Amino acid sequence: MVDVSKLAKKSLRDLTPYFHGGNVWEISEKYDIPVDQLIDFSISTNPLGAPETALKTISEHLNLIKHYPDPNPEWLLKILAKSNGVNPNNVILGNGSTELIYLFNEVFLEDGYEAVIPVPSFSEYKAAIERFGGNMTFLKCDSAKNFELNVKELEQSISKKTRIIFLCNPNSPTGVLYEKEDLLHIIRFAAKRNVLVFLDEDYIDFVDDAKRYSMAEYVNEYNNLFVLRSLTKFFGLAGVRIGFGIASPDLINVLNNVKMPWSVNSLAMFATAAAVNDVDFIKNSRLLVSKSRKEMIKLFKSIAWLKVHHSETNFLLIEVTQGKLTSTHIKEGLAKKGLLIRDCKDFDGLNNRFFRVTVRRPEENKKLIDAIKSLNKQK
Ligand SMILES: Cc1ncc(COP(=O)(O)O)c(C=O)c1O
Repeated sequence: MVDVSKLAKKSLRDLTPYFHGGNVWEISEKYDIPVDQLIDFSISTNPLGAPETALKTISEHLNLIKHYPDPNPEWLLKILAKSNGVNPNNVILGNGSTELIYLFNEVFLEDGYEAVIPVPSFSEYKAAIERFGGNMTFLKCDSAKNFELNVKELEQSISKKTRIIFLCNPNSPTGVLYEKEDLLHIIRFAAKRNVLVFLDEDYIDFVDDAKRYSMAEYVNEYNNLFVLRSLTKFFGLAGVRIGFGIASPDLINVLNNVKMPWSVNSLAMFATAAAVNDVDFIKNSRLLVSKSRKEMIKLFKSIAWLKVHHSETNFLLIEVTQGKLTSTHIKEGLAKKGLLIRDCKDFDGLNNRFFRVTVRRPEENKKLIDAIKSLNKQK
């Protein structure tokens, strides 16, 4: 027998995938609950699911899947550019925004260089850095200070070796939203030092007044800025895999030259075109999530042994402040009842006292809160 693990590149041998929420398939099998009866609070997607208009267009285009996807979908780039106030040559598509996280690291990071990541934050930045051989510096944001980003400290952590700063706005899993002035300050500071800013705005559509906070409008002024977006979260299209990036044309070109061919499928493209133009869906989703978030925060505040951290988006970071229950006990207790939450024990900068829940419909949120309350009584 060939020891295939020894044939793998040395640098990749010890990599293990990071854990993610949203594994409804595993919970369904483990507890014998049909997938469609689970309520998933563990991935932060729209409680309304995908827009009907996107689903309809997928079914109308099924006959086209015998063809390769359009390798240069100008028509879709135009639609995305228009809805984000930029030009088509400012946009790159990805197989989910995850593809673009990896592509960015593949292109810009190598041995001897490093990336700076304020933590806690999304784990795939770290995974992508590890894969392509760079180093990383974590900047810890403190729960006692509401996970605020200390811009001074961030600047101090940049060295001659720094190539990328990863920022997530609003940040997952904390829900913290950064101010435009702070981001501009960081982008300008980084530009002077030849450092790129990778700004993940995957959850920005859920923010009240999202346009005010997005940095997409600055990509032509600062060509060291890359803004990441996804159709997974707000438009509920996790399963078709599509995301996009917004940057200066020269940055987009560099990335396109390395990108895998045909990574975005035709059905995902058609669904995207319908989804981003569905004005009613966008309006109703914002209203629902905004109202439901406020109600959910109130409900969590009624549980004395939990602290709900301030959030400007569609998920809440909850801290267990009293008692013996860990986030893992809570996750397992809820899974048996068909309710999935994100145990945050594996996030750098957090521990087994933290979990994250998505804001869903009010009746679903209430079910979750009641189930959490009953878990503590059982202890
Ligand atoms: C902050 C953040 N960025 C990026 C992603 C990747 O999303 P996708 O590849 O589905 O677009 C996720 C997924 O959970 C996320 O939470």
